[in-house]
Amino acid sequence: MKSILGIGNALTDILAILPDDTLLGKFHLPLGSMQHVDLETGDQIWQALKEIGVKYVPGGSAANTITCTSILGMKSGYIGKIGDDELGNLFKSTMEQFGVQTTMLYDKKGSGRCMVFITGANAERTFASYMGAALEMGPEDLKQEYFEGYDYFHIEGYLVQNQELIARAVQMAKAAGCIISIDMASYNVVESNAAFLNNLIEKYVDIVFANESESRAFTKLDNPREALAEIAKMCEIAVVKVGKNGSWARKGDEEVFIPSWPATPVDGTGAGDTYAAGFLYAHSLGLGLKECGDVGSIIAAKVVEVVGTKIDIPRWRSAKTQIRKVIRKASK
Ligand SMILES: Nc1ncnc2c1ncn2[C@@H]1O[C@H](COP(=O)(O)OP(=O)(O)OP(=O)(O)O)[C@@H](O)[C@H]1O
Ligand SMILES: [Mg+2]
Repeated sequence: MKSILGIGNALTDILAILPDDTLLGKFHLPLGSMQHVDLETGDQIWQALKEIGVKYVPGGSAANTITCTSILGMKSGYIGKIGDDELGNLFKSTMEQFGVQTTMLYDKKGSGRCMVFITGANAERTFASYMGAALEMGPEDLKQEYFEGYDYFHIEGYLVQNQELIARAVQMAKAAGCIISIDMASYNVVESNAAFLNNLIEKYVDIVFANESESRAFTKLDNPREALAEIAKMCEIAVVKVGKNGSWARKGDEEVFIPSWPATPVDGTGAGDTYAAGFLYAHSLGLGLKECGDVGSIIAAKVVEVVGTKIDIPRWRSAKTQIRKVIRKASK
């Protein structure tokens, strides 16, 4: 089995179901908003939430992807930066419980977190995030030895805001002989780093994952298939995902459409991260483009059926059965 290393913002999601809006008012958080807070406020909110009862889920796009590849059986590693604190320890130990080999870097700032408040009958969500230590990861933190022995290196697009870090990371990954993949993360990341991304993908990246709005922001083409063709000229494999309408993958002149798998969606969070995990896992087994897309879509169809980014055990079982069928069919 091949191995994969991921790098990303190490963030813990702290989820709390609130009985009413009192706490939101106390911390000046408008209902439904997304705000950045400082450490002091972040800690105050967290302490207040602890009394109500919270759920912790290590998050961040690449961390989600890497957790999935580990569950699928690949040797999976993760590089991220945390604070030397309770939340950081929790992030590291939870990743390790999923079998991930962590290379955690430490900063004097507090560990990054995204606090999610769920209120009211409509389960409205309000966010307050503190990025803290995660944003302090820099090129000087990376060592060549972290990359050695891995076959794949996966980058979350959110990190592209730190261009020197990514530039150093891809050089080290290439030197270690890794296949490099990137998930573009969000259209505003793409818009504000277009020139850097262009150069990065042309020179270093083998597999690109983009959703519809990211592919549009990157290529200035509205049609996802045209955008796909454009991205595919720059790398080995391009993937453009169009939500419940499926995805497209292209390698040179070969192009496939992958319908999404049936699901009863409740929360779309994590669809893209899990899709990437399934795609890369299948690619590491030497499967074709269509099969890679199918395996990604199978897992993504499971994550949209649960709240949050972690697929439950019965759904993992069902996903693994469906994946085995795809693999068996391909080997006939
Ligand atoms: N409602 C759905 N039902 C079934 N599969 C879905 C659904 N939504 C998404 N998927 C699957 O997940 C894949 C990725 O979804 P999407 O295009 O939303 O990516 P994304 O925007 O990167 O996701 P994310 O918001 O998690 O970053 C789709 O190609 C599809 O296979
Ligand atoms: Mg995405």
